[in-house]
Amino acid sequence: MSTDQGGGGTAGSLRSGPPIAPEEAAIGCRNVTKTFGRVTAVDDVDLAVRPGEWLSIVGPNGAGKTTLLNILNGFYDPDPGGEVFLDGEAVTDTPEHYRARAGLGRTFQGLELFEDEDVIENVMTVRAVTECPNLLSALLFYGAGRKTEAENMRRVEEILDYLELWEYRHSKIAGLPLGVRRRVDLARSLALEPDVLLLDEAMSGLTFDEKYDMIRFLSDLHEQEDLTLVMIEHDLEVVTAVSDRMVVLQKGGVLARGAPEAVTDDPEVARVYTGVD
Ligand SMILES: Nc1ncnc2c1ncn2[C@@H]1O[C@H](COP(=O)(O)OP(=O)(O)OP(=O)(O)O)[C@@H](O)[C@H]1O
Ligand SMILES: [Mg+2]
Repeated sequence: MSTDQGGGGTAGSLRSGPPIAPEEAAIGCRNVTKTFGRVTAVDDVDLAVRPGEWLSIVGPNGAGKTTLLNILNGFYDPDPGGEVFLDGEAVTDTPEHYRARAGLGRTFQGLELFEDEDVIENVMTVRAVTECPNLLSALLFYGAGRKTEAENMRRVEEILDYLELWEYRHSKIAGLPLGVRRRVDLARSLALEPDVLLLDEAMSGLTFDEKYDMIRFLSDLHEQEDLTLVMIEHDLEVVTAVSDRMVVLQKGGVLARGAPEAVTDDPEVARVYTGVD
């Protein structure tokens, strides 16, 4: 069960296949461990996500899911010996903004939005900041004139329209329902036109209808834009319905991986989730 076997998914979306090496993956890692003092948050994890695949990461609270995502996107460095690959390139030593520009987007479990700014400003900021990761490039960026800003705005407007956020574009984040806020976070992650999107519990706390909307948007992006998705999610029903493959983390390590139906039938996985045999 712990081999990187292929797996099925929903009918017509069999994106998984034979195992591939992390170097060949849309996003991948090898021997990734992360310790914080005496806590081993991630313990020797290998991962290889195929281009166009929808992979779900599940596991109990504290299993290391968010830490793994933070290593993939460059927020944390892995412990020495760990490697991260993005679209065939070794990116272990590259900073977060480099990976964002190279096509890696992410959403945040705790929604890191600017509460006092409106929806458009929240999404525009991403494009401006990543265009200008430092002061010099910021000066050059703004020195380049308004045309780039106008182009950025047009793209942001397209994203807001696509995610049905247009009516909220001038609303401040504070006061918006959670479902809309999570969608703004998704809009921010799409602002840099990623090829791979890391989602950290993007449906957490949502109502049934809000969840349904989120799944609809993600499915469209996956099917129409061929976006590779790596999704941390607790709802196994959602995971089984949408994913090509899933990985179960427990105490930082990989407990099981494979086709969702096979993994969720695994008695060891059931035991971890329910605490009973
Ligand atoms: N910056 C940090 N400093 C110290 N310990 C950390 C840090 N980040 C995470 N940890 C610890 O690492 C372990 C894994 O945490 P992580 O947030 O990755 O788990 P998770 O699977 O995302 O959990 P949840 O489902 O609750 O979001 C936990 O024991 C956590 O306390
Ligand atoms: Mg987490």
